[in-house]
Amino acid sequence: MQQQSKKYTKMQKTIKFRFKAIGALFIAGSCLIGCVGHQLGKNNSGEYKNGMVVSANALASEVGIDILKKGGNAVDAAVAVQFALAVVHPNAGNIGGGGFMVYRSAKGEINSLDFREKAAGNANRDMYLDQAGNPIVDKSLYGQLAAGVPGSVAGMVEAHQKYGKLKWEELLAPAIRLAADGFKITARQAREFNGMKARFTKLNPLGTAMLKEAKWAEGDALVQKDLAHTLSLIQEKGRSGFYEGEVADSIVSEMKRGNGIISKEDLKNYKAVWRKPVTGMYRGYEITTMPPPSSGGIALIQLLKSVEPFPLGKWGYNTDSTVQLMVEAERRVYADRASHLGDPDFYPVPQAGLIENAYLKKRMSNFTWAKASTSAEISAGEIAPLEHEETTHFSIVDRDGNAVAITTTLNGSYGAGVVVHGAGFLLNNEMDDFSVKPGAPNMYGLVGGEANAIAPNKRMLSCMTPTIIAKDGKLFMVVGTPGGSTIITSVFQTIVNVIDFNQSMQAAVNAKKFHHQWLPDQIDVEDKALDSLTKVKLAAKGYKIVPRGAIGRVDAILKTKWGYYQGGADPRGDDTAIGW
Ligand code: GLY
Repeated sequence: MQQQSKKYTKMQKTIKFRFKAIGALFIAGSCLIGCVGHQLGKNNSGEYKNGMVVSANALASEVGIDILKKGGNAVDAAVAVQFALAVVHPNAGNIGGGGFMVYRSAKGEINSLDFREKAAGNANRDMYLDQAGNPIVDKSLYGQLAAGVPGSVAGMVEAHQKYGKLKWEELLAPAIRLAADGFKITARQAREFNGMKARFTKLNPLGTAMLKEAKWAEGDALVQKDLAHTLSLIQEKGRSGFYEGEVADSIVSEMKRGNGIISKEDLKNYKAVWRKPVTGMYRGYEITTMPPPSSGGIALIQLLKSVEPFPLGKWGYNTDSTVQLMVEAERRVYADRASHLGDPDFYPVPQAGLIENAYLKKRMSNFTWAKASTSAEISAGEIAPLEHEETTHFSIVDRDGNAVAITTTLNGSYGAGVVVHGAGFLLNNEMDDFSVKPGAPNMYGLVGGEANAIAPNKRMLSCMTPTIIAKDGKLFMVVGTPGGSTIITSVFQTIVNVIDFNQSMQAAVNAKKFHHQWLPDQIDVEDKALDSLTKVKLAAKGYKIVPRGAIGRVDAILKTKWGYYQGGADPRGDDTAIGW
C-alpha cells in the first residue's frame, strides 16, 4: 500500500511537473503572440492600437495607413487620402469639388475647416430659371454651368499648413502614382462607368479616361494621365498649381465649351475658411461637428438634444417608441433647416437659438404618442432642398490620438459629368444644393428657403456632418457619411446605436437605417430596418412607411475603453477599415 502510495505520489509529481511545463510553455507562447500582436498593434478582436483609416476605397485607406506608419499625423493622412480618393473613387472623391473637415487633437483642441464650393462671381439667383421664372430641369445638375468654384485643393493646402508634419510632396505622391500607373477598378465601379457612358459621351465630346469602346469589367485598369499631371502641378506648386496657371486655364476653357461661368478671378480668390465647430453634449458625450454652411452639425445637435430626455436605451433599438420619437425629432429639425440655414457669411443663421435646450424642449412639446404629427402642422410651405447622394466620408486617427473627420463631395454621382479637358478631373454640380428658386417648388417639386438662395460668391447649404465625439476629455468616436439629406439622420442613428444601444462600431454602421425629412411626410426605411410589428404599430398611428434602398455609407472609428480602435466600414459600398 505504502509502495503504491509512494508510486502514486511520484506519479502525481510527474503529472504536476508536466502540467507546469505545459502551462509555462502556454504562457510563454501567449506572451510571444501577445507581444507580436502588441507590436502589430492588433488585439484578438481585430481592434488596433496605433491608428486607423476608414474610407470608401481600400486603396485610399492603404494610402492613409502608409502615411501614418511613416510618422505622418492624422491630417497628413487625411490630405493623402483626399487626393487618393480623387483618383480611385472618382464618383465622389475629388479635386473638383469641396467639403468639410472636423479636427480634434490628442490634447482636445478642436477646429473645423470649410472648403465648400462657392457660386461664381457672375452667378445670380435666377440663373437656372426660364423666362416664366420656372426652374429649367437639369440646368443646375449637368454640364459646366452646374459647377461651383472648387474648394478641395485650397482646403488640403490650409489643413496641411496648419497641422501637417510630413512634406506636402510626400502626401501627393501616392495619388500621382495611382493616377499615372492606373489601378484595378471594382465591380461596382465597372457597373457605374458602364451606366455613365451615355452621359460622359454627351458631356465630354473630347473624351475622358472613364470612356472606352468596350464595356468596363471588374479588374480593368483605369489610367488617368491628365489627372496625374494636374496632381503633379499641385504637388509642385501647392494651391497655385490648381487655382492659377495651366489648370486654371483648362478650367476656364472648359467653362467656355459649355456656357459655364467660373472665371480665373473666381479661382484665384477662392479661400478655405477655418470656422468654430458646433459643439453640444449628449448623455455626457462631447459632440464636435460642422457649423454652417453645413446644416449637418446644427441638425445633429438638435436631433440628439431632442431625444436626450427620453430613455431610448430602455425602449430598445428600433422599437416603435424609439422610431416614433426619432422621426418626430427629425420632422421638426428638417423643417428648421429649410428656413433657418444658409451660408453664415451671407445670412444670419440663428445658430445658438437653434440648439438651445429650452427651444428644443418646446419644439418637441407638441407631439403626442397617440398619433403621428403631420408636417403641415409643424410648419407650412418651405422644405429642404433635395440633395444628391454621392458624397464620401473618411475617418482617421493617428498614433497620438489626433482625429480627423472629412466629408467631401462632387454632389451628384460623378458631379456635373464634365471632366475638365486636359486636366482630367470631374467638375462638381454643387450649384444644385442652392435653392434654385426660393419660396417656390424647384425642379423636383420641392421648395427651399431664402437663406439658401443663390448669390455671387456664396456657399450653398450642405448636409455633410463630419463629427468627432469625446467622453471625459478623451476621444470616443469619429463618424460621418455620404447620403444627401440622409447624411444627418444616418450619423444621428449611428451615434444613438453606439451610445444608447451599446452596439459595436461595425454593428452600428451595418444597422439598417430609417429617415424622415419633414417633407415628404413619410418614413423612408431600408429593408429590414423595422420589424413587421413595429411597422404595424407605426402605421396604426398614421405614419406612412416607404421602403427604399441603401441609406448612408458610414465610415467610422470607435475608441474602446481599453484604448483600441474599432473600425466601422460600411458594407453598402467598397468601404474599408485598415488599422495598425
Ligand atoms: N452635396 C451634398 C451635401 O453637400 O450635402
